[in-house]
Amino acid sequence: MARRPILISPSLLAADFARLGDEVARAEAAGADWLHVDVMDGHFVPNLTIGPVVVEALKKRARVPLDVHLMISEPRRYAAAFAKAGAHVLTFHVETTADDAEAREVIAAFRAAGVAKVGVSLNPDCPVERVLPLLGDVDLVLVMSVYAGFGGQRFLPEMLAKTRAIRARGWGGYVEMDGGLNAETIPLCAAAGADVLVSGSALFGAPDLGATLSRFRAAAEAARGETIHA
Ligand code: DX5
Ligand code: ZN
Repeated sequence: MARRPILISPSLLAADFARLGDEVARAEAAGADWLHVDVMDGHFVPNLTIGPVVVEALKKRARVPLDVHLMISEPRRYAAAFAKAGAHVLTFHVETTADDAEAREVIAAFRAAGVAKVGVSLNPDCPVERVLPLLGDVDLVLVMSVYAGFGGQRFLPEMLAKTRAIRARGWGGYVEMDGGLNAETIPLCAAAGADVLVSGSALFGAPDLGATLSRFRAAAEAARGETIHA
């Protein structure tokens, strides 16, 4: 099976919010494939971040697709707003649904809203079995390698097994990993089968964003196919 190239999706949560438009341009100039936008509602997670108004403003400045990660309790309620605002990938957390049937209703609502790609995510304490029945319904699985809510946390290596389990099913969709990704952990993610890599603090906190992003991409591509034990 031909593999897609690695995609790097810098998380704007670690950018300077006072000059977001410039940060978008900086990330794109550095080689960002997608831009990761973390939406938090103060309910599903304790933190509050941005909403559709800011996504719409980002969309005006962005040339690459917006990868919108909804950490909100009622994803269905806001599907149309985020689709209209310009989300290309729209991802919800499976923990916000009671069962597969309800998760499929959210997915259907996202499709009806017109987003190009639908993703489902799971927190570290959610077993991978919750998303396996949905693989035929989504384009992307976002495996959280920290607990959703804050940037700058330490990578949880036990989460790599979830990515491996998804790939072991022969699934050809996107597997994205998010949380604590840096030069050390990115090769582990890629070797496990992840092909979309989110990084916030390690990228925006680096002295040279472009060089760091290139290094992350090269390390990920090199690690693919290798067996690395965390
Ligand atoms: C955490 C967010 C992440 C976060 C990653 O809830 O989903 O996207 O921005 O930040 P780092 O790369 O700093 O762990
Ligand atoms: Zn995220």
